[in-house]
Amino acid sequence: MIGGVLQGHVFIATSLDGFIARDDGSIDWLNAANAAGEDHGYGDFIAGMDAILMGRETFRTVAGFEPWPFQLPVLVLSRTQDSALLPAWLAERVAIVRSLPEATALAAARGWRNLYIDGGETIRSALAAGLVRSLVISRLPVLLGQGRPLFGPQVTDVEVRHVCTRSFPSGLVQSRYEWP
Ligand SMILES: NC(=O)c1ccc[n+]([C@@H]2O[C@H](COP(=O)([O-])OP(=O)(O)OC[C@H]3O[C@@H](n4cnc5c(N)ncnc54)[C@H](OP(=O)(O)O)[C@@H]3O)[C@@H](O)[C@H]2O)c1
Repeated sequence: MIGGVLQGHVFIATSLDGFIARDDGSIDWLNAANAAGEDHGYGDFIAGMDAILMGRETFRTVAGFEPWPFQLPVLVLSRTQDSALLPAWLAERVAIVRSLPEATALAAARGWRNLYIDGGETIRSALAAGLVRSLVISRLPVLLGQGRPLFGPQVTDVEVRHVCTRSFPSGLVQSRYEWP
């Protein structure tokens, strides 16, 4: 297990059949829930985080958002990208790290305690490493059939405690899990 006092937290939306994006990475199917004008607890969640750790694929999506959506420092997990390639305006907000241990070492050096972990492969890596302490999963009432999964074979036999489930008028059903 890595992390020590550092805790990872997941807040993510999936289709009813467990996908977080289409195969090509698109998340258009999330728009219905976003358009409802309800933040589904995201504001409270993000207020408790010190920084965000996301995978390179998620970064590819959010780098296209206008304006930049995060107030918190962002670490991007990637073995292939280099911070030197970031445009100047992003380099102030984002650092690229090569591995989870590098991310947690940087987080510890900055005194961060709570990391928002985002992106399917990244979440699975963090789960496998024992870094994640809470999961908030919002299931949308849509079946995609195929796409990029949230979970997979990297993570097996992890028992979590169900804390609560609530539903919203849009049909979104949100469950919170914590580690025993
Ligand atoms: N539904 C939602 O709420 C939600 C939330 C977030 C993201 N998304 C969507 O989900 C998609 C991204 O998820 P994803 O599972 O495809 O990918 P991801 O986790 O965002 O990114 C995967 C990449 O991150 C790097 N990476 C992951 N684990 C690593 C590790 N342990 N060490 C080093 N590098 C590591 C690798 O980059 P390199 O190949 O560069 O090494 C890998 O290719 C995007 O389409 C995004 O828009 C949806």
